[in-house]
Amino acid sequence: MILLTGGAGYIGSHMLLALLQRGDDVVVLDNLSTGSKQVFDHVCRISGSNAEFVQGDIRDTDLLNIVFSRLPIDTVIHMAGLKSVSQSVVEPLRYYDNNVVGSINLLNVMRNFGVKKLLFASSISASKPCSPYAQSKSIVDEAMKDMAASDDTYSFISLRYSNPIGCYDVTLADTSQDNLLPAIMRVINGEQSYLTIFGNDYDTPDGTAMRDYVHILDVVDASLLALDYLDNHHGHHCLPVGSGKSTSVMRILELFAQQTNQCLPYVIKARRTGDTADSHCDISQACQQLGWQPKHSIYDAIASTTNFSITKGL
Ligand SMILES: NC(=O)c1ccc[n+]([C@@H]2O[C@H](COP(=O)([O-])OP(=O)(O)OC[C@H]3O[C@@H](n4cnc5c(N)ncnc54)[C@H](O)[C@@H]3O)[C@@H](O)[C@H]2O)c1
Repeated sequence: MILLTGGAGYIGSHMLLALLQRGDDVVVLDNLSTGSKQVFDHVCRISGSNAEFVQGDIRDTDLLNIVFSRLPIDTVIHMAGLKSVSQSVVEPLRYYDNNVVGSINLLNVMRNFGVKKLLFASSISASKPCSPYAQSKSIVDEAMKDMAASDDTYSFISLRYSNPIGCYDVTLADTSQDNLLPAIMRVINGEQSYLTIFGNDYDTPDGTAMRDYVHILDVVDASLLALDYLDNHHGHHCLPVGSGKSTSVMRILELFAQQTNQCLPYVIKARRTGDTADSHCDISQACQQLGWQPKHSIYDAIASTTNFSITKGL
């Protein structure tokens, strides 16, 4: 059985759907701080399968002990975490507590119960940490590496995701405050009057920050292949997962404008602390080692996200 932490969140719910579709037994542990039980229920409904749901926190050792002692967990997919770069700059300890203390707690319980297989949702930002968020991911990657070095029966993988976008259906769309696509959708849906672009003075062709946007379905494919990879590979592995290309904020805005036939109002503000000019990743290792290849375009991702608004007649 697979324990999926953060399975009521954006990436976790897509992962849950794929696991249920391939017939895995899954228990989701989520404290619902940013995730939603409705999303979890929706995934069970569309997959035609059931997963167990435990509402709780990865920092709650007693709860983890109960979950691991009651259920035959042999694999953990750890996606529970806080992910706002800007919030992490304002509340660093909250991020270290949730993301680092929580993950170490989970690793401890895994060790005590002899669970050896772990996939961790790390971030491309962990390769050169510029924020407490990125640092929190990097620390967990390092802890996993050290733990795997101490016992060669562990099979651990840190997938350093870039910027997943798009959705299987709109109920599963990302709704977080910080990410670009949800912010654009709030403007399209009239919940916000304009988009704020943080910085147009980066050293990039149009001055706006460039990111490696990757379709969520490609992220899930890579993650499923990584789980299979762990069946035959011990140790700690760390792979960047993205599209391998970077796209500017302004270009994303243009693609939205093309698809929705409307120009989106925006204002330029100062750069955010912790943000970098360009963060695209090298996916050659992930392609080679996992036998994976991204299949979906940014255009597909935007289409899946805007579907709702277009059918609403916007
Ligand atoms: N979305 C991205 O751009 C991105 C990029 C790289 C890495 N990641 C990482 O992938 C993971 C999932 O991201 P997401 O986009 O789905 O975020 P999300 O906020 O949609 O999902 C995170 C889930 O974890 C749960 N959670 C948070 N802290 C918890 C805790 N202490 N105990 C139990 N549950 C907890 C939340 O309720 C939520 O359901 C995160 O760890 C994030 O850092 C995300």
